Amino acid sequence: MAKRPASAPVTSDLLGLQGLSASALRELLTATRELATRGVKGDELRGHIVASLFFEDSTRTRTSFAIAVKRLGAEVVELIGAGSSVSKGETLIDTARNVEAMGVSAFVVRAKQAGSAAMIARAVGPPVINAGDGKHEHPTQGLLDTYTLAEAKGRLEDFDLTGLRVAIVGDIASSRVARSAVAAFSTLGAKVVCVGPPGMVPGGFAALGATVGGSLDGVLPAMDAVMMLRIQFERHGEGKTPAPAGAEAPKASPIASVREYREFYALTPERAAKMKKGAVVMHPGPINRGIELDEAVADGPRSVIMRQVTHGVLVRMAVLRWCLGAR
Ligand code: CP
Repeated sequence: MAKRPASAPVTSDLLGLQGLSASALRELLTATRELATRGVKGDELRGHIVASLFFEDSTRTRTSFAIAVKRLGAEVVELIGAGSSVSKGETLIDTARNVEAMGVSAFVVRAKQAGSAAMIARAVGPPVINAGDGKHEHPTQGLLDTYTLAEAKGRLEDFDLTGLRVAIVGDIASSRVARSAVAAFSTLGAKVVCVGPPGMVPGGFAALGATVGGSLDGVLPAMDAVMMLRIQFERHGEGKTPAPAGAEAPKASPIASVREYREFYALTPERAAKMKKGAVVMHPGPINRGIELDEAVADGPRSVIMRQVTHGVLVRMAVLRWCLGAR
C-alpha cells in the first residue's frame, strides 16, 4: 500500500537529475562548493539515522555516503541484499517499511531494478536518495561528475558549462551514470555527444539533450572532457524472457569481441595524445583497466578520476543536507 499518492508533490527526495532545473542543480553544486571551501559547521545532522539499503554491489557510492553521514554528525545503518531478508523473498518495499518503523530519517537506496528508489519513496515517509537504480539514474554520481567537470574547466563560480563539449563513450545503453550526467551537463549548457557501438548507444539519448553517434577518433580532438564507461556485461540480456529454471540465462552481447571494441572505443595513450590541451579524462568507476581505459591514461595527467571520487563525499553531504532540510 502506497504511503504517498503517486500524484503527491515530493520535494525532499532525490530520485534523478532528469527534469531537475538548472537552479536546483546550481543550488546543490553551490552547497558542495561551500562544503569544499568552508567545511561543515558543527554536527548539523546530529540525531538523524540514515538507512543505507544496498541491494547491489558498490564501493564508491556506499562508502562515500557512509562517510558523508558521519561527517555531518549523523549515524548510518547499512543493509545489503545478501545479509538481509530480501534474500528470503521479502520485497524492497516491505524491507524499507520495516526499517522506517524502527525510526530513520532518510533512505539511501541502490537496487538492480530501474524505478526501485521511486517505488520506495512512494511507500515511506522519510526522504529517499537514489544511489543507482538499474539502468535508470544515478543522480549523486551525475552531480559529482558535474562538479568535477566545473572544477577542471574553471566553472565553479556559476556552474555555467556553456561552450564545453563532452563525449560519453562506451556502454551507454546500460549506464544510469550516462543518463544522469547527460541531464545535468545539458541543463547547465554543455554539449554532450554519446559515442559507442550502435548496439550500446540508444537513439533515445537525443531526447535527454545529447547528440548520438560519431566515431571516437572523429570527436576526440574537439572535446573538453571525455567520460569513459565500463562495458556492463552483467546487464546485457536483462529484460529478455527469463531462462527456464536451471538453464543458463541467454546473454545478448551488443559487441562481437572485446578486441574489436578496443580497436574503436578504448582510450589508449595514442588516442589521449590527440585530445586538446587541458581536456580531461573522467570515469565513474569501477574501471576495467585495459578494456575501455588504459592504465597510462587512467593514472595520467589528464585524469580527474580521483577528483570525482573525492567530490563524491562532498556531493553526498550536500544532498543529505538538502533532503533533510538542513540546507
Ligand atoms: N560509480 C559508482 O557508482 O561506483 P560504485 O558502484 O562502486 O558505487
